[in-house]
Amino acid sequence: MMNLHLSLGLFFVLIFPSSSQQASLDLLNPRLLKAFDALQAWKHVIVSDPKNFTSNWYGLDVCNYNGVYCAPARDDRHIITVAGIDLNHGNIGGSLPEELGLLTDLAVFHINSNRFCGTILKSFQNLRLLYELDVSNNLFAGQFPEVVLCLSSLKFLDIRYNDFKGDVPNKLFDMKPDALFINNNKFASLAK
Ligand SMILES: *[C@@H]1O[C@H](CO)[C@@H](O)[C@H](O)[C@H]1NC(C)=O
Repeated sequence: MMNLHLSLGLFFVLIFPSSSQQASLDLLNPRLLKAFDALQAWKHVIVSDPKNFTSNWYGLDVCNYNGVYCAPARDDRHIITVAGIDLNHGNIGGSLPEELGLLTDLAVFHINSNRFCGTILKSFQNLRLLYELDVSNNLFAGQFPEVVLCLSSLKFLDIRYNDFKGDVPNKLFDMKPDALFINNNKFASLAK
């Protein structure tokens, strides 16, 4: 998995070297404005950020926020959008607000090793390009987050080391993700 994370970092660096420069010329693009709303709503429900990961999350230039990666939109290369979020190992306490569903260009969402609680909300169903979802090693709880079953682009799911309980839906295995990690929760059965 380390390799995967590393290669993703390289992917952004190699393919989108000037995305933040472009973004600063393009601050009023409506998708970045929506991303701004989403990230400000998120910042609002972060209650603890000991490493100050989100300390520069203010102002419209969301592409320069720590942990936020921008790239040209899949459907229009002239529009810069938020394509990745990586707050791994932030030890951040808080929750995920409904507004994260505004990040409709998001391909990668990595928040492993934090203290996020609550669950993954229904609004995540709007993230139709989401390819990698890693929320492992947090404080998420409740039933299996069914919303992930609606994510048709999802290829990598890691929800390990949380407090999810109940049954794991069979449909999850039907999605045939490339990588699926669900252990170290309180699921009743992992029968297929
Ligand atoms: C985070 O910011 C606060 C307030 O500015 C500061 O006291 C603290 O040392 C910073 N922590 C780190 C890990 O940089």
